[in-house]
Amino acid sequence: MSADTVTEGRLSEKKKILVFFGSPHRDGFTAKLLREFLEPFGTSAEIRLIDSYAERIAPCTDCGFCNRTEGCSDGDFDEIDEQIRRADFIVVATPVYILSFPAPLKAVFDRMQRYFSARFSIGVNPPIAKRKTAILLATCGSRSAEGAKIISRQLRMVFSVMNTALKHEIVWTGTDFQNGAAEFERVRLQARNLALAIKSEL
Ligand SMILES: Cc1cc2nc3c(=O)[nH]c(=O)nc-3n(C[C@H](O)[C@H](O)[C@H](O)COP(=O)(O)O)c2cc1C
Repeated sequence: MSADTVTEGRLSEKKKILVFFGSPHRDGFTAKLLREFLEPFGTSAEIRLIDSYAERIAPCTDCGFCNRTEGCSDGDFDEIDEQIRRADFIVVATPVYILSFPAPLKAVFDRMQRYFSARFSIGVNPPIAKRKTAILLATCGSRSAEGAKIISRQLRMVFSVMNTALKHEIVWTGTDFQNGAAEFERVRLQARNLALAIKSEL
């Protein structure tokens, strides 16, 4: 075994963080919160980001394919499926749009219906073998966290058949208002402390 192989072996043991990014703004509030969360990991984890506005995943058409065969009739989700199967952590970083996800990210989650079908129509149990922890990072223009609560409920439902537990939620409210600095300081610390706690257990 060469030194390279050993190094590759170590690299492949890195925990994998898969981020679903829901904002159209690469430098907006959600991106700012996500950066605070990811920064402490440095190179200690393998981080992959699914930018929902760039990926343009097609909406689920309820064609019925996944009720008969494990998978999906539309191959545009296959790469994401692979990433989900490999991941140890799933991070959902999203703004709230009309008390829900922005449409491109909602399309991504609707496409996860294939796991529900695999479990209950085909009998694959569990449809995702590797257990995962999920983290929600949400930003709300409103001073109310109502939209983030609804998103949290949606995620718990989707993740319930994906061997994934939503364990942490950080919500930045009031981003549409001026003087949000104090609120940012609060969520910034929450995000960094959570990342450091997770990192210490990697
Ligand atoms: C179409 C649209 C709908 C929105 N709906 C809500 C909402 O229901 N509740 C809320 O708190 N904020 C709402 N907002 C505000 C965004 O959640 C907020 O500005 C967010 O922090 C933007 O994040 P970004 O800078 O990452 O894009 C909405 C914004 C847009 C553009």
